[in-house]
Amino acid sequence: MRIVAIANQKGGCGKTTTAINLSASLSFLGKRTLLVDLDPQGHSTLGLGYNVENFNKTLYDVLSPRENQASLEEVILRINENHHLVPSHVILSAIEQQLAGVYGREEKLMEKLRTVQSHYDFVIIDCPPNLGLLTFNALRAADELLIPVEPSYFSLQGLKKIRETVDLIEETLKHHITTHALLTLFNSRSNFSRKILSELQLFFKDQLLRTTINQNVRLREAAQAGMSVCDFDRKSTGFRDYMNLASELIERGSVTRLIESYQAAETESPISFNETRTEIADSFNLPDDPVIEISTADKIWGEATSLKQDTLQFPALLTDGVILGYNDPHAKLVQVAGDFNNWVNEALDPTDLQRGIWEKFIPLAPGRYRYKFIVDGEWTVDPQNSVSEPNPYGGIDSVIVISRMPEEILNERSSVNI
Ligand SMILES: Nc1ncnc2c1ncn2[C@@H]1O[C@H](COP(=O)(O)OP(=O)(O)OP(=O)(O)O)[C@@H](O)[C@H]1O
Ligand SMILES: [Mg+2]
Repeated sequence: MRIVAIANQKGGCGKTTTAINLSASLSFLGKRTLLVDLDPQGHSTLGLGYNVENFNKTLYDVLSPRENQASLEEVILRINENHHLVPSHVILSAIEQQLAGVYGREEKLMEKLRTVQSHYDFVIIDCPPNLGLLTFNALRAADELLIPVEPSYFSLQGLKKIRETVDLIEETLKHHITTHALLTLFNSRSNFSRKILSELQLFFKDQLLRTTINQNVRLREAAQAGMSVCDFDRKSTGFRDYMNLASELIERGSVTRLIESYQAAETESPISFNETRTEIADSFNLPDDPVIEISTADKIWGEATSLKQDTLQFPALLTDGVILGYNDPHAKLVQVAGDFNNWVNEALDPTDLQRGIWEKFIPLAPGRYRYKFIVDGEWTVDPQNSVSEPNPYGGIDSVIVISRMPEEILNERSSVNI
């Protein structure tokens, strides 16, 4: 059984859409697949057409330390023969508080999934948009992490944090997690989308999946109709993309297993990816004592949550240009004009409508450039760029200077940035 957690603390990057449609596509290809809705928002449950108010028991009752617990099997719903769902409910958000101080609270989901191990080929976990205890449970249970990333510079900045969390879990719990990154909401006609794809290739290298998920309105419509795209529209780009994703993941799994079996044959003491709690305690030189175990979890947890917060830093220098960004949740159209485009207004991409973030990649050679934003028709100095100068017409222009060779920027970014 392969357990794949779909996680990214960034909201709206396609976690749920991927969880629903990847699990549906895997089951379409004959894999027995369980989708676990680990998000109290319950979007996977809703997106598959279920009204949680009709259920007596959900994942909350399975994970809750209170009385009248349910078994995982009791709450599983059959969407079709191969596609099953563990539904969520908003009350799941109370679990973090309820499990505070409870022995093994970060392993609850892992323990429950063990009880259905022989029933499934794949378990897909839809995580909430934060790195809280629920996501931590998912990463503890999973062998694989799938990170959906939508084309925005802000998403790139958040990747460092999730990678640090995974490193911490791997190091501390000696629990190996294979990472896959997936570009979602891709627009092949946007040069910004293509730029982010090349940045992701630099950052993730062979962890980046070949498949990209294109923007496709049928995916949104399928969720609104309470169906996976496999049941909603098999002619759509969304169906094709998620089927490609499912086959690529199946293919990657066979390659990984082959490499692991070679490694196991060559090494006298192969690495065990499933250490018991006692072994974890031993690796910290701790006695097998529940109180100390909890403090171990707290230590990892404390470090994970204290990792550097995401910060938006525009303009962002890249190897071959700059990403300009503008933040205003009320703006309806943000454009840029500068000496690099002969002062012709060009629209920025709305990459995060909720936060009102607009971005654009401008390819630039080393040099000094002046520009302005045009926000809903008004000329505006870039508020995030502290360098500006008066222009001959009595206004102010923002200025960027690209003075270093691309190699220097590349070296600096690989050690400092994303
Ligand atoms: N490839 C796509 N094409 C078009 N719309 C999409 C695509 N992927 C996701 N969406 C839409 O974008 C919105 C956010 O997607 P989704 O809910 O999957 O993100 P999420 O990461 O699960 O969000 P959250 O962090 O809130 O859980 C939804 O309205 C969804 O229908
Ligand atoms: Mg979601």
